[in-house]
Amino acid sequence: MKQPREASPPTPTGGTGDVDGGRVTHWDGVYSSRGPTEMSWFQATPTASLELLDVLGVSRQSGVIDVGGGASLLVDHLLERGFEDVSVLDVSDAALRSARSRLTSGAPVTWVRTDVLSWHPERGFDLWHDRAVFHFLTDAVDRLTYLRTMRRALRPGGAVIMGTFASDGPDQCSGLPVARYSSEELAAAIGAEFDIVAARREVHTTPRGAIQPFSWLAARLRANRLA
Ligand SMILES: C[S@@+](CC[C@H](N)C(=O)[O-])C[C@H]1O[C@@H](n2cnc3c(N)ncnc32)[C@H](O)[C@@H]1O
Repeated sequence: MKQPREASPPTPTGGTGDVDGGRVTHWDGVYSSRGPTEMSWFQATPTASLELLDVLGVSRQSGVIDVGGGASLLVDHLLERGFEDVSVLDVSDAALRSARSRLTSGAPVTWVRTDVLSWHPERGFDLWHDRAVFHFLTDAVDRLTYLRTMRRALRPGGAVIMGTFASDGPDQCSGLPVARYSSEELAAAIGAEFDIVAARREVHTTPRGAIQPFSWLAARLRANRLA
């Protein structure tokens, strides 16, 4: 069945000449074109993320980073649960400004405006969360770069929660092509250094009523990995 399309985002204008592959221009354009609750990926409650957080038993003192967090309400829910060390990373300043404007000043959140593909983390995290970002990496070298950064950013025994479009999900998002994964494919993509703790499927309904199946994975980095 053909799904209704969300409002068209601006076409990426960065071109291949941009250092960031046009991602800043694209995503700032998207977040400036409509409100956060109109984005196809908007969810008032990040149910799968919070459930998997509980399955992993992530403590409130853990260092958590939401990679490509954009204007997601995950940060609000983490703060509400008493998390004390939350970082939100996104390539779009417009997205981070939108999220930041909702929170009280002094909220324990570190905002990181950068492209994850060129990021060099200066500290470790206990949880790496990614909903609908890894699936934009259709280039194998970009995926390797992302996964190398993810492993470097994780403390020993750290965990990841990742959600991507499922194998039967849309083949593009926000006008960009995506790679789709089953939970098994996602587990294979992140590599054998991780123990899979939970895998699940979620059917997301966009604000305009389209159905988007997601594959989710919660996995833990083996503490005895070699550096
Ligand atoms: C589909 S949205 C998902 C946003 C958020 N995770 C959520 O679930 O609401 C993808 C997000 O990833 C960000 N993004 C895309 N590519 C990125 C990159 N290479 N580095 C950092 N952020 C990126 C975009 O700006 C956007 O906020």
